[in-house]
Amino acid sequence: METKKNLKSMLREGSLDKKVIIVTGGGTGLGKAMATEFSELGAKVVIASRKFDALKTAAAEISARTGNTVLPVQCDVTNYSDIENTLKKAVAEFGPVNVWVNNAAGNFISPTERLSYRAFDVIVNIVLRGGYYSTLCAGKYWIENKIKGTVLNIVTTYAWTGSAYVVPSAVSKAGMLALTRSLAVEWGKYGIRLNAIAPGPFPTKGAWERLLPGDLAKKFDFKNKVPLQRVGEHKELANLAAYLVSDYSGYVNGEVVTIDGGEWLKGAGQFNMLELVPNELWDEIENMVRKANKSKPL
Ligand code: HXC
Ligand code: NAP
Repeated sequence: METKKNLKSMLREGSLDKKVIIVTGGGTGLGKAMATEFSELGAKVVIASRKFDALKTAAAEISARTGNTVLPVQCDVTNYSDIENTLKKAVAEFGPVNVWVNNAAGNFISPTERLSYRAFDVIVNIVLRGGYYSTLCAGKYWIENKIKGTVLNIVTTYAWTGSAYVVPSAVSKAGMLALTRSLAVEWGKYGIRLNAIAPGPFPTKGAWERLLPGDLAKKFDFKNKVPLQRVGEHKELANLAAYLVSDYSGYVNGEVVTIDGGEWLKGAGQFNMLELVPNELWDEIENMVRKANKSKPL
């Protein structure tokens, strides 16, 4: 489920060589794609999640590709001391950390009434609690050390629309969006920026196994919901993330950038269903409408 097109990096080589970046959930899927891009652009990257063996393999793979060291750190983001430990290890290995990417997530589809309160908790704890723990830990460190750090939060487009069948995730992503916008204002005075990316469908093993298991992947092929009629390429998201953590986006603060091929707007527009009307019917429809225009008022 990796990038198919051979897209190039948007930023020049070395654009992130002054950055020390922690990516939670950086050993798989979109986190790994971002970690690879950051490392490619010269950043010192830490990837942090629960499964240390998988992280070690991913770190070695990224390093072999980019020639830069990548540090794997075991970290459960639901545990504040793990987050403090990740920061400590990153600083010891690479020096001051200046970027934190909240990418770790948990999610699965289910009618909400089937969920136990623990099922709800497990998602909220990873996405929202893990996100604000990380942000709080990074913010305290940056303010104390006068570092103009940047947080990048990976949310989703249903952070503002909501979504049925993934309610704990929707609630958590909405919280992360509110956190992004709130702290962008509150911590602006310290030179700390917070932004978010809202991806549409980008196939990853982790997401597809839990959101479109079995036949659902064919039945509800996400590309049919997207005006551009395709899913996203990992490199497209990684390029956007690299820009948002770089100094080139130094005046972008509190923003959420949607990268979904127009998907959520297609779902939103009142008359977007009219794309199902075949071209040859439009003459007849126009005639009917014109006739109505000429009819007498009721
Ligand atoms: C109902 C479920 C369930 C399901 C688990 N539970 N799966 N309930 N339907 N399908 C319940 C369990 O019974 C339990 O409640 C509670 O949830 C916690 O379960 P655990 O055993 O602790 O966890 P486990 O089921 O092993 O794992 C859940 C998880 C796991 C931790 C969230 O899936 C995970 O590690 N996910 C990380 C990767 C991931 O989710 N990636 C997708 C991100 S995609 P009880 O009451 O029985 O104890 C994304 C956005 C995509 O975020 C948007 C796409 C467009
Ligand atoms: P993924 O590969 O399953 O990534 C989730 C990552 O989170 C894994 O690396 C996992 O690693 C880590 N993680 C889970 N629980 C954790 C915990 N308690 N502590 C630390 N790390 C934890 O899925 P993905 O598709 O790449 O998703 C990445 C991000 O993009 C998520 O925020 C997701 O919501 C967002 N997103 C994805 C899509 C999409 O289409 N793929 C769309 C919209 C938004 P471990 O198992 O090792 O802990």
